[in-house]
Amino acid sequence: MAPEHRLEPTLGWPHLIALGVGAIVGTGILTLIGVGADKAGPAVILSFVIAGLICACAALAYAEMATMIPASGSAYTYSYVVIGELVAWVVGWSLILEYSLVVSAVAVGWSGYAAPLLQAAAGVPMALMQSPEIGGLVNLPAIFIIAVVAGLLMVGTRESATLNSVLVCVKIVALIVFVAVALPTFDAANLDPFAPFGFPKSVGPDGVERGVMAAAAIIFFAFYGFDAIATAAEETRRPERDLPIGIVGSMIACVLIYMGVAAAAVGAVPFRTFADSPEPLALILRTLNQPGAAIFLGASAVIALPTVILAFFYGQSRIFFVMARDGLLPRSLAKVSSRGTPVRITLFTALVVGAIAGFFPLDQIAALANAGTLAAFIAVSACMLIMRRRAPDAPRKFRTPFAWGTGLVAIGGCLYLLASLPSRTQLYFLIWNLLGVALYAIFSGRRRGSEAVIEDEQIATV
Ligand code: ALA
Repeated sequence: MAPEHRLEPTLGWPHLIALGVGAIVGTGILTLIGVGADKAGPAVILSFVIAGLICACAALAYAEMATMIPASGSAYTYSYVVIGELVAWVVGWSLILEYSLVVSAVAVGWSGYAAPLLQAAAGVPMALMQSPEIGGLVNLPAIFIIAVVAGLLMVGTRESATLNSVLVCVKIVALIVFVAVALPTFDAANLDPFAPFGFPKSVGPDGVERGVMAAAAIIFFAFYGFDAIATAAEETRRPERDLPIGIVGSMIACVLIYMGVAAAAVGAVPFRTFADSPEPLALILRTLNQPGAAIFLGASAVIALPTVILAFFYGQSRIFFVMARDGLLPRSLAKVSSRGTPVRITLFTALVVGAIAGFFPLDQIAALANAGTLAAFIAVSACMLIMRRRAPDAPRKFRTPFAWGTGLVAIGGCLYLLASLPSRTQLYFLIWNLLGVALYAIFSGRRRGSEAVIEDEQIATV
């Protein structure tokens, strides 16, 4: 492989766990917990358990594949190697949706916590801090934070990962403070009725789709991010040991933290209090008459949420990078700068995700991100099972426990979550995939025609 197309191995497992927790704990628990409560009532606790279990099964399949095929690109790379180019393209296409929209969604979530502070401190009008659908003009803070993170990534992976580790601690401390303040006020009366909208997704009189599963399909957003670790495989010093530790370790930590936060939130106040808030956890603390804790939590979210943007932005640029290196995107995009970072890809990604974050509302962006992620998780779990059958004795540094049970729960669970997403999201996802397949048909035809020219160009640039 030409040196300019190779990434530097600089990361160890502590970086990976920090990258994992940094990517997982974010807008899901801080903001979408409100959307989930609106859809499930107090049973949002159950939605957390369901989404967490399904995600944990997929995480185990990921860990196995990540150590069998330790290369950048995660689900895209596994599908490319195990199933073939067309499926890999579709999966890569879903990952683009996932990673881009997560960056945009978390930037919007960040803006939700930052806006009250900016308004109080500098008098910034709300119209400049909200998307048009909820009455604003443009969400400038969301665009701003994306620009900052893009700059960090262009400076270099190592520096960014170290800063990330510090900010992850801030985020975890803020959630521990929330639980410590809210849990002692737990009132069982707030849990009654526990599941006012039932279990499966169903349309209410107001036309909104609700139910424990409808909430789980949104809350699912809160659990993924560990796959961002797998995209860092090529930059990890000992991937076969560090990747499973990073993936499984960060997943377990997050499931435990969320259980505590969800129980503390729905036990502290009636769920309608915080159902549609852009900063639900801060609102709960204010309702409990703890304004100091609320400001601390809001400020921590503002300081620390960029770690999630960082991790997904990192993953996104690596997926574009690997796809370009494989020739599924223009190869010139796969160039690495003298500092070892893919600068062109990072700039391109920033422009796209900034535009989405500036003009669309959080719940819609998050639902569509989930659709892309669910498709990728199904593909990874299928890859794991196919490899178990095709090469049962191939060396595996990490073996998924109860592979068939775990793999089938992951695939079935992800399908059920996909079916529980809002109908509008399902339609958008279908359109996105049709567009992807059409592009593949056009692009792969052209690529075959120009293969020789590209090879020549590559030789010229080495
Ligand atoms: N799990 C990440 C979050 O909740 C995407 O922000």
